Amino acid sequence: MSAMQKLMGWIDERLPLTATYKAHLSEYYAPKNFNFWYFFGSLALLVLVIQIVTGIFLTMNYKPDSELAFASVEYIMRDVDWGWLIRYIHSTGASMFFVVVYLHMFRGLMYGSYRKPRELIWIFGVCIYLALMAEAFLGYLLPWGQMSYWGAQVIVNLFAAVPIIGEDLSIWIRGDYVIGDATLNRFFAFHVIALPLVLLGLVVVHLVALHEVGSNNPDGVEIKKHKDPVTHIPLDGIPFHPYYTVKDIVGVVVFLMVFSAIMFFAPEMGGYFLEAANFIPADPLKTPEHIAPLWYFTPFYAILRAVPPLFGSQFPGVVAMGMSIVLLFFLPWLDRSKVKSIRYRGPIYKIALVLFIVSFVGLGYLGLLPSTPIATIFAQVFSVIYFLFFLLMPWYTSIDKTKPEPERVTG
Ligand code: HEM
Repeated sequence: MSAMQKLMGWIDERLPLTATYKAHLSEYYAPKNFNFWYFFGSLALLVLVIQIVTGIFLTMNYKPDSELAFASVEYIMRDVDWGWLIRYIHSTGASMFFVVVYLHMFRGLMYGSYRKPRELIWIFGVCIYLALMAEAFLGYLLPWGQMSYWGAQVIVNLFAAVPIIGEDLSIWIRGDYVIGDATLNRFFAFHVIALPLVLLGLVVVHLVALHEVGSNNPDGVEIKKHKDPVTHIPLDGIPFHPYYTVKDIVGVVVFLMVFSAIMFFAPEMGGYFLEAANFIPADPLKTPEHIAPLWYFTPFYAILRAVPPLFGSQFPGVVAMGMSIVLLFFLPWLDRSKVKSIRYRGPIYKIALVLFIVSFVGLGYLGLLPSTPIATIFAQVFSVIYFLFFLLMPWYTSIDKTKPEPERVTG
């Protein structure tokens, strides 16, 4: 027995290292027909690691003090060795996280990955999405630019719209009557430690739940139904390692090419990844002409603005915005189709999904613009379609004419 084998034996008697490696990698069987859409889970993991590592280095020179924060970011950009690179990786990473997660979620919608037995994977996913939005919102205050300040002001003021307790609630969140130093300190604490811990925990349970039931696939058929009678290995499964570890590296390389191109040549991405107004230090006495959140929040911001105020209160809009995300949790039970994958669904679901995506992207676009009467009408139409996609789903998925699902994956 080699020294290496002896060492592994010694460890395995004390820690299930080889058993875990086999259960989750070399003897974990994933469907053999994964396509392009299955890259985004591993890419989301990659971006999570990138954000944590660059975040640690940014924290070494960032000052969470309203008098010093803006200048400390400029110091990182100009004076800290490679500081500009670390900061641009982190700011590009934030937007790319959402690009990857939106594509990952869209894959779930296309292939019915949220359906039985994967409801919990999906629910943990929606929790991740919420935590990610909170993480991005909190992080955006830290550079203490005009948009950081006024964006936070707008969002925290939404809590003030809650009847009765709203005013006190918003003061409690800010720790002050306006966004101030106390707010910056607590947002910093939540951004650098509390939410990253929550995110990591959620990603772990997301993956534990995934490995319990196994992945879905573009055909939406369960590979565990057809196992080799002797080895009990799914006939349409291949070991995750080496097949998908190697395949995922291809995704990582292409992704890092796109990521680097943006980061080196267009880190502001035309104002979509870093807004111009945020290069001006926060000024509590000067409201920017046009306050818009970053692109990944704009669909929800558009829903908020689409709902007219009631007796001067924005509360109905806040409720609509909240509901637009809460509905995602119920998706596994709203979908009554006989099949999972878009490949075997009927025309109604296909049309519904296209309308939903058009509305979501449309809302995202409208949320970037100042509100005008015509933009508001469009936002209202798109919001109604967004909600109907979910609310009418039990009906249209049950009457849709589906095609028969194959027994085995089709490749
Ligand atoms: C930090 C964010 C996230 C990470 C790191 C992550 C990671 C992963 C990984 C590695 C997989 C397996 C590979 C794959 O199927 O692509 C996966 C599968 C899955 N994820 Fe996520 N995920 C994240 C966010 C989300 C979100 C926001 C949702 C939905 C709201 C979601 C829903 C799912 C579903 C339904 C599956 C199973 C897909 C299938 O088997 O077809 N995930 N996730």
